[in-house]
Amino acid sequence: MQVVTTKPRVLSGIQPSGESMQLGNYLGAVRNWVSMQDGFDAFYCVVDLHAITVEPPAPEELRQRTRIVVAQLLAAGLDPQQCSLFVQSHLAEHPQLSWVLECITGFGEASRMTQFKDKSAKSGVERQGVGLFTYPILMAADILLYQTNFVPVGEDQRQHLELTRNLAQRFNQRYGDTFVVPEPYIPKEAAKILDLQDPSAKMSKSRGDAGTVYLSDDASTISKKIKRAVTDADGEVRYDLQAKPGLSNLMTIHAAFTNSTTEKVEAEFAGGGYGALKSAVADSVIAFAEPFARRTRELLEDPAELDRILALGAAKARTVAAETVRAAYSNVGFLAPASAPTAG
Ligand code: TYM
Repeated sequence: MQVVTTKPRVLSGIQPSGESMQLGNYLGAVRNWVSMQDGFDAFYCVVDLHAITVEPPAPEELRQRTRIVVAQLLAAGLDPQQCSLFVQSHLAEHPQLSWVLECITGFGEASRMTQFKDKSAKSGVERQGVGLFTYPILMAADILLYQTNFVPVGEDQRQHLELTRNLAQRFNQRYGDTFVVPEPYIPKEAAKILDLQDPSAKMSKSRGDAGTVYLSDDASTISKKIKRAVTDADGEVRYDLQAKPGLSNLMTIHAAFTNSTTEKVEAEFAGGGYGALKSAVADSVIAFAEPFARRTRELLEDPAELDRILALGAAKARTVAAETVRAAYSNVGFLAPASAPTAG
């Protein structure tokens, strides 16, 4: 199979790190994956290798989480005819390229990654696996393998994208042109959805359930979480991320789910109390989440079909990834393996 296209290439990834993706994953990234699959040559992967870098789940649990996120990506609107949807661990090319990139990454450079610092701060650097440290380098390999032009991600991935660009440029300089230098594709609005209980932090699976809306939450849970969202005491509906992060976050969510803008949301709710806005936000999230959860359940009833979609995606991905590894290994100076002599 050969992938021939003139469209710019897009790649992104998501971890199978829970029972469901959360609102920030969808609004910050996955929504753009869906809209980009049409005009771009799109590759999307579920990054299960990354998912074992912190508190690895039980093996059966990891397999189930991977299927769930695949089903959710399809329920969100990914079309396997239009994009390649695959699981990272199905392609040995990812760790193969990662090793070479690790060898051109400075220890200090990797130490400056804020996500590593944040994640390791809780239990201390000494207690972390080395995989958490090299996580951004595997991510760079994910991207560079596909000669990617654009990477649709949330704001939290900006630094990892900068590292990826640096590694691509360094490799190209040292060994000759091998990789496309990718650009981040970060939405203007919804690039950082905030935790509903602590709007100084981004919404994240690792921050506890009260401030995180999962797309698998039922209507009454979503409603409760949004109505209990931390706002402020001045009572004025006004978009101001600095002074009113909690309220502004709710306005961003509402604008995203109603195809509107925060200016329009402000105009609509100005003069009303926070209660009316919160009810409207809950309704708009539920209107998306209910059919989404139903579709996800249907898709999960046919795991053989999910496996078939992933096999197709992996086959398409492999044609591109294998060629990049071959070129990168050759440019580094690894001896090409000769084919074994036939017996006889
Ligand atoms: P992950 O699984 O943590 O998140 C998946 C995507 O969701 C975005 N995101 C958010 N966007 C807005 N607001 C939030 N609160 C929020 N929380 C998460 C993330 O920015 C991300 O785009 N390192 C990546 C996975 C990865 C990857 C890659 C991404 C591995 N290889 C190659 C792009 C390309 C991550 O942790 O995703």
